[in-house]
Amino acid sequence: MKISAILLTSFSGALAFAPTFHVPKFPSSTSLSANIAVFGASGLTASECVYQALNNGDKVFGLTRNPSNLVIPKGSGGDKADQKLSNPNLTLIGGSATEAGDVAKIFEGNDIDGVVIALGGKTKDVGTTMLTDATKTILNAMKANGVKRVSVVTSIGAGDSKDQAPFMFKVLMATVMKNIFVDKNNQEELVKSSSDLEWCIVRPGGLTVEPPTGVINVIEGEAGSIARADVAQFCLDAITVDDFPYINKAPCISSVGGTSWVKDRSAKARDGME
Ligand SMILES: NC(=O)c1ccc[n+]([C@@H]2O[C@H](COP(=O)([O-])OP(=O)(O)OC[C@H]3O[C@@H](n4cnc5c(N)ncnc54)[C@H](OP(=O)(O)O)[C@@H]3O)[C@@H](O)[C@H]2O)c1
Repeated sequence: MKISAILLTSFSGALAFAPTFHVPKFPSSTSLSANIAVFGASGLTASECVYQALNNGDKVFGLTRNPSNLVIPKGSGGDKADQKLSNPNLTLIGGSATEAGDVAKIFEGNDIDGVVIALGGKTKDVGTTMLTDATKTILNAMKANGVKRVSVVTSIGAGDSKDQAPFMFKVLMATVMKNIFVDKNNQEELVKSSSDLEWCIVRPGGLTVEPPTGVINVIEGEAGSIARADVAQFCLDAITVDDFPYINKAPCISSVGGTSWVKDRSAKARDGME
């Protein structure tokens, strides 16, 4: 576990009506390395977690149904973006996070220090209960293996953050995203009821594939957008920093001022995936 002094400074930018905090970048590169499990490893946010953790000198154990989809992410990857991501410190396993046997392969003999769950997908592709089923399977495996720390990416608007979603997003939540939000809310309830774990539910605003800004605001009002690369940093810090300030909390995070919902730019990033 890494140890870092954490400063919480009041942020008085465009979101002055909503209390916000700036979480500074932690000195990960100077800290001890960790063994990190990433579920949904080929995803756009998850691949940022994988890539950044490897760059920090950590060992990463990733699970995805389609390992060949894992590429260096656009946000942090710079001119290496979209190249195949391979590294001696990366173990990538093909399987489903809803299958206990596949999840067990991530934990067996790997001395995992912390877990990132960054699963997603359209319900028509992944099913209406995948997030909840997979999270239950992963949390059970954590408990069986004595692993305590987990960060779980859900969304602005999930659980008691419903009123923090911008108006247009609330409309989507009540219509085309209704099923996915039932699954996300159930997923969050499951995590929150795991009193024996140290969890952080990470609720990002609209996700982009931009380079990391290093600015991650925890927002109590309506949230704007955030680069997946910044979400990944927050998720990794949540499982590796001893005194992380949002343990057993569910912060909404955003990088930009204002409360607009920025159109998701992930379709472009997924071009070329199988
Ligand atoms: N788009 C937005 O603006 C926005 C805003 C806030 C929150 N979010 C949420 O943030 C999360 C991350 O989003 P993202 O766009 O970065 O994700 P993403 O690119 O859609 O990645 C999700 C990953 O989950 C994996 N997955 C799905 N079912 C799986 C299973 N059964 N077992 C193992 N892996 C599985 C998928 O890989 P395989 O299919 O290959 O397994 C995929 O790589 C999602 O929950 C999303 O709803 C999105």
